[in-house]
Amino acid sequence: LCVDEKCLRPETSEVGGILMTKLMSDNWDKIWNFQARPDDLLIATYVKSGTTWTQEIVDMIQNDGDSQKCQRASTFNRQPFIEWALPPLIKSGLDLANKMPSPRTLKTHLPVQMLPPSFWKENSKIIYVARNAKDCLVSYYHFSRMNKLMPDPGSWEEYVEMFKAGKVLWGSWYNHVKGWWDAKDRHRILYLFYEDMKEDPKREIQKILKFLEKDVSEDILNKIIHHTSFDMMRQNPMANYTSLPSSIMDHSISPFMRRGMPGDWKNYFTVAQNEAFEADYAQKMAGSSLTFRTEI
Ligand code: A3P
Repeated sequence: LCVDEKCLRPETSEVGGILMTKLMSDNWDKIWNFQARPDDLLIATYVKSGTTWTQEIVDMIQNDGDSQKCQRASTFNRQPFIEWALPPLIKSGLDLANKMPSPRTLKTHLPVQMLPPSFWKENSKIIYVARNAKDCLVSYYHFSRMNKLMPDPGSWEEYVEMFKAGKVLWGSWYNHVKGWWDAKDRHRILYLFYEDMKEDPKREIQKILKFLEKDVSEDILNKIIHHTSFDMMRQNPMANYTSLPSSIMDHSISPFMRRGMPGDWKNYFTVAQNEAFEADYAQKMAGSSLTFRTEI
């Protein structure tokens, strides 16, 4: 069992300038050589940007709104997280994916330049979801506190600086969202925003339906919206990560389904922190046409 010191608060190392756990970097050749298939659907996100939410929406679409079927297994066993593993509790995403019959839905947090090249070669469809930096940071901070598979986040003040410097797992938020934004014009990528999904889930689910070339009745669409709401997902043990032991994810420190609200950053950033963050943000995002809403 890998629930020992080696896996909890794991050691990290960099690959291509991106911080990873040792477990990932030791496995990097295998990850890079992952074989995508033309009918794969990949859900790509920076950490804490609405991945699980999007995964549940996609699974509901693929199962025609049958919420029972979507409770057949935990999120991470339904849709392999390709670069992740925690044997034996979380099977290696690679092994799970390799054994899975097509069509597969897969998850990754890899920055665009680190995506296994077979995804481009096979022209697999990709849904990318982006979330504004400040809410993402707050969510990532709390997630790192409760999830012992992440490096210790330190204090709030320390974490803000680590996030700005991109010294967190999967690297810089800024480069991640910009890199995928630029890639969307060259590949089959649907680029969505967490804030838009929150504002009008129906409209955004319809975008996903169109991208997947799928049609559902109004009744099924309403079922999908209902089943994938924050309140429903929070109570769904197959979507809220409570199936993992509390030695790994301790929901009493901070639940996985924590707040789900754009603008929650205001409860954490001081005025001075916000000003410094904004100034640094303007520099890092200069020249990009990508814009975010930090509240709705
Ligand atoms: P908060 O920590 O701000 O609450 P990911 O799945 O990429 O790890 O993202 C997790 C974040 O998405 C958490 O944000 C979580 O609460 C939020 N989330 C999960 N399901 C959601 C839903 N159905 N609606 C809105 N937010 C959701």
